[in-house]
Amino acid sequence: MMRLKNVKQKTYQHINTSTYQHIPIMFTAKMKLADIVAANHNIILVLPRFGIPLGFGEKSVGEVCKAANVPVDFMLLICNLYTFDDYLPDINQLATTDMSMLVPYLKASHSYYTEERLPHIGKHINHIASRIEEKYGRVLKQFYADFRKEINDHFLSEEKIEFPKLLSLQQGVRKCRTAKSYSEKSHEELVDKLNDLTQIVYKYLPGNSLPEETMELVFDILQLSSDIQKHALVEEKILIPYINWLERSMK
Ligand SMILES: [Fe+2]
Ligand SMILES: [Fe+2]
Repeated sequence: MMRLKNVKQKTYQHINTSTYQHIPIMFTAKMKLADIVAANHNIILVLPRFGIPLGFGEKSVGEVCKAANVPVDFMLLICNLYTFDDYLPDINQLATTDMSMLVPYLKASHSYYTEERLPHIGKHINHIASRIEEKYGRVLKQFYADFRKEINDHFLSEEKIEFPKLLSLQQGVRKCRTAKSYSEKSHEELVDKLNDLTQIVYKYLPGNSLPEETMELVFDILQLSSDIQKHALVEEKILIPYINWLERSMK
């Protein structure tokens, strides 16, 4: 079983909800992918980002990854991070993991948010806004438009600065110019904005003729918020420490 040196077993003792009761300390390559997805259904969302199709039957994670040409250690790193709140890979683990898919994985996550989830939420917002008093509709649409601009700028900045920086380092090239320092705060701000959006929708929008769609919208936003928090963890706990380690080791 994969274990981390700096994370004591007791760290996971808080995981005692019925969802997690039957899970061992961490996921391993020998476990069935179906069992992992059953343990944490959010993992179904990350499979397309690895190019792993559904229909994996009874295959283990190791077998599925081999067939999809995905480094299994990296896949497990992501699945564990998505599932165990206190999971924190140490630098030895990052240094010995095949990180060739890190940038493609993060880019695929950005595409999923910008091309699928955000437009989907936008459609709900426009539809609901068209059914409520105009001044409320305008505020709702403006708030969402501001959020989309902010998150797009955030993704673009990562795609222009951090991702190319990592790709260069992985090819043994250390860029001379110093990259903009990475701000964890910007992740918090994005999540705060999404929380504000849900509050606006269920606390302050007057009753409208689309209660079911409004509820759907709230759950879509909550799901996106939770996924983006995990995405942020991948960047803060994997991407940045790994970039820093590669830089240090090239000095
Ligand atoms: Fe990102
Ligand atoms: Fe980010």
